[in-house]
Amino acid sequence: MHKHLLVTGGAGFIGSNFVNYWHEKHPQDKIIVLDALTYAGNRQNLINLENSPNFFFIHGDICDRPLVDNLLEAEKITTIAHFAAESHVDRSILTPSTFIQTNIIGTFTLLESFRHYWQKQNQPSAYRFLHVSTDEVYGSLKAHESAFKENTPYAPNSPYSASKAGSDHLVRAYYHTYNLPTIITNCSNNYGAYHFPEKLIPLMCINILLGKSLPVYGDGQNIRDWLYVKDHCSALDVVLNKGKEGETYNIGGNNEVKNIDLVELICQIMDEIAPNLPVKPANQLITYVKDRAGHDRRYAIDSSKLQKELGWKPKATLESGLRSTLQWYINNQQWWQPLLSTDYQKYYQQVYGTFK
Ligand code: NAD
Ligand code: TYD
Repeated sequence: MHKHLLVTGGAGFIGSNFVNYWHEKHPQDKIIVLDALTYAGNRQNLINLENSPNFFFIHGDICDRPLVDNLLEAEKITTIAHFAAESHVDRSILTPSTFIQTNIIGTFTLLESFRHYWQKQNQPSAYRFLHVSTDEVYGSLKAHESAFKENTPYAPNSPYSASKAGSDHLVRAYYHTYNLPTIITNCSNNYGAYHFPEKLIPLMCINILLGKSLPVYGDGQNIRDWLYVKDHCSALDVVLNKGKEGETYNIGGNNEVKNIDLVELICQIMDEIAPNLPVKPANQLITYVKDRAGHDRRYAIDSSKLQKELGWKPKATLESGLRSTLQWYINNQQWWQPLLSTDYQKYYQQVYGTFK
């Protein structure tokens, strides 16, 4: 049976990588993207699909219940892949309310709509509600602590991770209460093409190309696990096709690294592959700045459940994934230049102050 997918947030970073991946891998499936096109949504990310007969774009909000109800019915949706969210920790510190609205109310709206629709269809067991979430719901690890597992207690520390934790709990409750066929995935920090400039890796890459300072928060010793976005997409493919309803799967890249070491590695690769850098070696641009409020020290993901039960493995190493990503930003300046808008400059000023 061909799937009819509703992909929320499909014009964002991971959502658009997923849509491009899915369309190539499963061209017979129908894909309907629902996206509000916030600052983070960009139709350019989906430009390759605009003429495909199996691709449709709907500009709208996941909190709009009548719109979602109509879409599910009209498009005979079998699968929701839910990516839509406010996703940036620094923005959640500045304006938490949009995070509560989209991440909690938006997820609740989708769940309610999908529940009524699924019940009306006599509860098909093949239908799925895939909720894409984050390792940040598990809180912060100390250096000696073992990586997050699916049963690690939730301990979110930022308005972003708290709102994602709230949405995860709702999804869990809909499985337990209504038997709605849901699956939750919690993944580590993604990186790759189409990543909005505010996040660490694109920010460093773009600032190197522009000869601007590279702001490292605090002492630079915070640790993240980095997952190449294409590996994340292949994991979601496996989860949607072989995963068990009601389960949670952790997805990680097996690439734990300190921020400062990652920034040094980015500088080293950029020195090697980018022509005519304004400042070289690029690591002269590294500047330590005031720490992020409540900055989580370390995230690490144990994805052995997904590897053992569903046979998934990440393909990219940090070095190979970074090289492709940085090369993509060097080749696609016309994609990121327009994103450095007046609004973005305002945001930059708020987070980094007068720092250039
Ligand atoms: P993103 O910020 O790049 O994209 C979010 C997309 O959602 C945008 O296209 C935006 O327009 C859309 N959107 C926002 N509010 C909406 C609303 N109310 N209605 C409809 N669309 C709306 O985010 P991303 O990095 O692609 O993350 C996707 C998902 O993956 C999120 O749920 C995020 O929590 C999760 N996640 C991300 C990472 C990461 O490293 N980026 C890691 C773990 C989990
Ligand atoms: P980010 O990409 O915002 O992802 P998250 O906060 O969800 O992990 O940040 C990754 C790490 O890099 C995090 O420890 C914060 C740090 N960071 C900086 O040091 N400087 C920056 O300018 C940014 C955006 C992040």
